Amino acid sequence: MMNGCGDGNDMEMGAVSGQSQDGLMSREKSALEGLVEKERLLDELFKLEEEASRAIARASSSKALAETATAVLGKRSTLSTIHRQVASLQPEERKEIGQRLNEVRQKLDELIAEKRESLSAHEREEQLEAERMDLTEITPSFLRGHLHLVTLTQMELEDVFVGMGYKVAEGPEIETDWYNFEALNIPPDHPARGMWDTFYLEVGEPESVLLRTHTSPVQIRLMLEGELPIYAVAPGKCYRRDTADARHIPIFHQIEGLVVDRGITFGDLAGTIETFTTAYFGPRIHSRLRPSYFPFTEPSAEFEITCTICTGKGCRTCSDTGWVELGGCGMVDPAVFSAVGIDSEEWSGFAFGFGIERCAQMRHQIADLRALIENDIRFLEQF
Ligand code: DAH
Repeated sequence: MMNGCGDGNDMEMGAVSGQSQDGLMSREKSALEGLVEKERLLDELFKLEEEASRAIARASSSKALAETATAVLGKRSTLSTIHRQVASLQPEERKEIGQRLNEVRQKLDELIAEKRESLSAHEREEQLEAERMDLTEITPSFLRGHLHLVTLTQMELEDVFVGMGYKVAEGPEIETDWYNFEALNIPPDHPARGMWDTFYLEVGEPESVLLRTHTSPVQIRLMLEGELPIYAVAPGKCYRRDTADARHIPIFHQIEGLVVDRGITFGDLAGTIETFTTAYFGPRIHSRLRPSYFPFTEPSAEFEITCTICTGKGCRTCSDTGWVELGGCGMVDPAVFSAVGIDSEEWSGFAFGFGIERCAQMRHQIADLRALIENDIRFLEQF
């Protein structure tokens, strides 16, 4: 093929054709042209085979491979163009090129099929991996919150008193001066009002409506209901103009207790306090009463429990006393009984009131009360 023609072939042809048109048989001429054309087509086929093989090898996805296949084998491919040109060749050359064409087509077909196989196997693997379901995976269950520590503490305290036969009462957080102070034997200008730094509401007469500073007004409401005897606790929110610190927050909770019956003594009060502290804080924690003053009780006392931080040895929280104050208590003052129309000759009673946050603080050893209102989930979820 190539050998017979050599590089000078074209020149020879030129020279030959330059001589005389008539000197050459047109059959010979076309035979020569056919030869050249054949060589060119073979050459093109060779290049095509090389390039197409490389393109097939390069295809990185089934989609890319399909595109390459169309470019290489489709109607507008070089292969088809060559195929069409074969028609104009002499039968002998046509046969040779035709054979070669088929070889190339077959080889490319095979390469494409092989590549398709390996790509789709790979893609299947990738898809399986992407859609894989890990049946061993443990998904965290739906996160459910729980009640706030203060609510939990309130409920537990209520339980302790319900266990002693008390009922649970409620009163409004917005009170009048009369319920919050006056009926509790704290008249206007009484120096004891200074004990409660009050938020007043701009309703009615100045300083007549307020956010209750303690739960003690519920005592008045209970006694005014008129049913005796009374064994009740009344938990709820209280408000004071206090700046928040480690032991105070301006909105806090108290639980009030009131007992009115015949023959109630200070001994009953002390026993009740001791029973409650043991039930709530456990047997290692004790209570004690210290003489104090409240306008609505006589005699009055503050009650303290063993400091849970140092279990009584003395520490910073209890100012080295080993005791922490929980609240106040005392025997209901006859002046209070007379404000609500109860005969203090026939009835006697005791009352107490203490902070719910303080109880939670002592029970769980919470150094700073403000943690209860900061809504830090890491703190809250511990309880
Ligand atoms: N209400 C008082 C306070 O907030 C606490 C208190 C003291 C309540 C004596 C009582 C009591 O029922 O008898 O400081």
